[in-house]
Amino acid sequence: MSELHAVAHRMVEKGKGILAADESTPTCTKRFESISTESTAYSRNYYRNLLLTSKGIEKFISGVILFDETFHQSELKTKQKFPEYLSNLGILPGIKVDQGLEDFADGEKLTKGLDGLSERLNNYYSHGARFAKWRAVINIGENLPSADCIEANANSLAKYALACQQSNLVPIVEPEVLMDGSHTIDQSFDATSKALNAVFDKLQKHNVSLQGIVLKPNMVLSGYDCSYQAEIEEVAEKTINCLSANVPSEVPGVAFLSGGQSNELATLHLNEMNKYETDWNLTFSYGRALQQPALTAWSGKKENSELAQEEFIKRAEANSLATLASL
Ligand code: 13P
Repeated sequence: MSELHAVAHRMVEKGKGILAADESTPTCTKRFESISTESTAYSRNYYRNLLLTSKGIEKFISGVILFDETFHQSELKTKQKFPEYLSNLGILPGIKVDQGLEDFADGEKLTKGLDGLSERLNNYYSHGARFAKWRAVINIGENLPSADCIEANANSLAKYALACQQSNLVPIVEPEVLMDGSHTIDQSFDATSKALNAVFDKLQKHNVSLQGIVLKPNMVLSGYDCSYQAEIEEVAEKTINCLSANVPSEVPGVAFLSGGQSNELATLHLNEMNKYETDWNLTFSYGRALQQPALTAWSGKKENSELAQEEFIKRAEANSLATLASL
């Protein structure tokens, strides 16, 4: 267990955060379409290689979440498999292990991937993974989220988390309340609070060691189509209050997802939250908010690679400063 606790602490170390580069192939293809770039195994390898070989990445990034395809691909110069390449840089390799979403009931989803999970986890551990990720999705809408959907997702997250710890992997526990829609920040607070409460209830019932997990929640925000958009200070205050009411102090760290916020806001919200005294380290586990400027700068052209790497490092450094409330 102490190895797990040590890994969880490293993942949320002050001044560093996690890069989510685990887009599934369909999601990566969608991102590449936005820059008119063909999505092939090679172009995906090239792009992930570009991010992971950015100079100085290890100063700001503690861990990288990989998708299965990338996990088995190699750094293009040294030919080392990415998990080995990252470990040699002192970065923890992670792996997305959920298998996407299935319909639950009217407009709600349940994450799948429990079948054969332990075997896959053992295999990933033996190939160098040190943590895993599972994302559950909760929608806000008319009469949503339902208590049943919250409970079913919390249950799966707890089963996944226990399986991870039994395979010596730190589970990133990600209940994402989506910010799509016109709901208010208070509705977001309420849904996030219910989701977190259910998750910790199930984690405790399944005897998951809370010192050996990293929580990856959404921030409490106004729905993106809500006419009133909460200011940075209000987002920070409501998010901290929501976490304080639901997250036990044993949890070493909270690594937020960016969830479609602009790059700048994702950074400023994190900076503001780090002005509070909290039991857990607060850091980032961003996908889009770390990658978007790099993806645009690259635009699928080899000659833009260095520029793209500079853009990536700029976001990584700004978010690193935000974990110290130093912006
Ligand atoms: P975003 O930061 O783009 O929301 O992605 C984080 C993530 O890993 C979602 O599962």
